[in-house]
Amino acid sequence: MNAQELINTTRTLVAGDKGLLAMDESNPTCNKRFARLGIPQTEEARRTYRELIVTTPGLCESISGVILYDETIRQAKKDGTPFIKVITDAGIIPGIKVDTGAKEMAGHPGEKITEGLDGLRDRLKEYFQMGARFAKWRAVIAVGDGIPSRGCIEANAQALARYAALCQEEGLVPVVEPEVLMDDEHTLERYSEVTEEVLRTVFNQLYTQRITLEGMILKPNMVLPGLSCPKQVAVNEVADATVRCLLRAVPAAVPVIAFLSGGQSSELASARLNAMNVRFKSRLPWALSFSFARAIQQPALEIWQGEEAHVLAAQQALYHRAKLNQAARRGEYKAAMERT
Ligand code: 13P
Repeated sequence: MNAQELINTTRTLVAGDKGLLAMDESNPTCNKRFARLGIPQTEEARRTYRELIVTTPGLCESISGVILYDETIRQAKKDGTPFIKVITDAGIIPGIKVDTGAKEMAGHPGEKITEGLDGLRDRLKEYFQMGARFAKWRAVIAVGDGIPSRGCIEANAQALARYAALCQEEGLVPVVEPEVLMDDEHTLERYSEVTEEVLRTVFNQLYTQRITLEGMILKPNMVLPGLSCPKQVAVNEVADATVRCLLRAVPAAVPVIAFLSGGQSSELASARLNAMNVRFKSRLPWALSFSFARAIQQPALEIWQGEEAHVLAAQQALYHRAKLNQAARRGEYKAAMERT
């Protein structure tokens, strides 16, 4: 492992108030999103959509890295130019999702364990040779009656740490994503407790597995009330609860925390990230950034709808969303910018 190279890659990913664009939906997830809009669920439709994303003019002004899926990293533009070349030529760093998905966890009804460690070293070598310089692994933690269990939290944290160790050995910056799912009715307080416990466990494991914290990225959920919780709260309350939780659990050596969006609307995800930076940026040890999938892609996907004639308008929407999130990193986002 060359620690300095990992640190340099991480610095490049954080620089210029840019963020990450997650476009690593697995085929089933991508198909589900296409199906909702009546877009054909074919390899060619997925390729066409990903071409739209990676050829968006000016994307590199606000996006430093894109996270790809195994199918996508092997695909090319219609004219034959590999996506990896298009991305790298645009000055964006290619990343790759390397877990093989969250599966039912034995002995733990309602909970999941993320798989993909077997053979991972060889897959990472291949991805590095293809040009990837960072990777992503997502653990999912469900909240409910009697869950999450310690067994689920610990097994997922250990898998994240073993993945991160292999990434660093192979020269890829690990994006460590322990996602507490926010799609039900629990309160902000409950999600705050669970997120803190999960993060503390993850960092214990990262320490045990000898991870260089300066050469990694944490990708957590924001601390929110559940999407269907009757008690919603103001943007500033989400900002305060999220930062309080992170300050308790994330070591200062971690250079950047890049949030997932987790089903929030695009506008709320930007506004909440912005509020954290407005209120706390000058006092925090790590940068607060974004690594959104839905909150950055959704408007573009809805405009595109699988139609060639809509490509330019969809690219403009994607460019705009990326710019708004860059403004949120700076604490300069305003709701009025949504309409410009
Ligand atoms: P969302 O921003 O849509 O939550 O996705 C982020 C991600 O990469 C999920 O793994």
